[in-house]
Amino acid sequence: MALINPSILSADFARLAEEAKAVEGADWLHVDVMDNHFVPNLTLGVPVVESLSKATDTPLDLHLMIEDPDRWAPQYIEAGAGSVTFHVEAAAAPVRLAREIRAKGARASMALKPATPIEPYEDLLPELDMLLIMTVEPGFGGQAFLDIMLPKIRRTRELISRHGLELWLQVDGGVSAATIERCAEAGADVFVAGSAVYGADDPAKAVRDLREKAET
Ligand code: DX5
Ligand code: ZN
Repeated sequence: MALINPSILSADFARLAEEAKAVEGADWLHVDVMDNHFVPNLTLGVPVVESLSKATDTPLDLHLMIEDPDRWAPQYIEAGAGSVTFHVEAAAAPVRLAREIRAKGARASMALKPATPIEPYEDLLPELDMLLIMTVEPGFGGQAFLDIMLPKIRRTRELISRHGLELWLQVDGGVSAATIERCAEAGADVFVAGSAVYGADDPAKAVRDLREKAET
């Protein structure tokens, strides 16, 4: 299985509904929420997510790059998110937060910045439906893929298997036709792609091509 989640961050924000439609056929639409505190960039918030969820049938994969996700995550679920990823570096109480996300009916996911190791969080894995390993420093689209993250992806996949868990392993940052096979080989199964999809002449075809590469 390989899930391809185009990131709306690389789309035209004045035409979000059309841009969402342009990638129908993708598994999830990845929505990057940035608050200019956790990361040095500012994107969109709850009202835009609410409108976007009405504008597309593709489920929304929210990536919260914000301070205080404990406070904000429930509002994004009410706005229509099907999956909510919080950063462990920002969460005050990650276990409580993951349980609350699940209780509200969304998939619970936790993200690790490149310098954050997985090992201290091994015991939290059963609380999660997905783990996101950042393959760039969060904040901007179009950055170069960090190859040094491949061992972390591999170690995380081993931990997931060792515990007999079902959770998805997502990678985000610099994922393209040139890097997706390395990620898949290391054990990732959910792939976020921003510039590689929205920078292509035919975004829907870019999604199909990425899926084919990830599945080979
Ligand atoms: C970056 C965001 C990513 C971004 C990826 O902090 O989390 O989702 O959109 O963009 P690309 O695929 O261009 O690296
Ligand atoms: Zn993201």
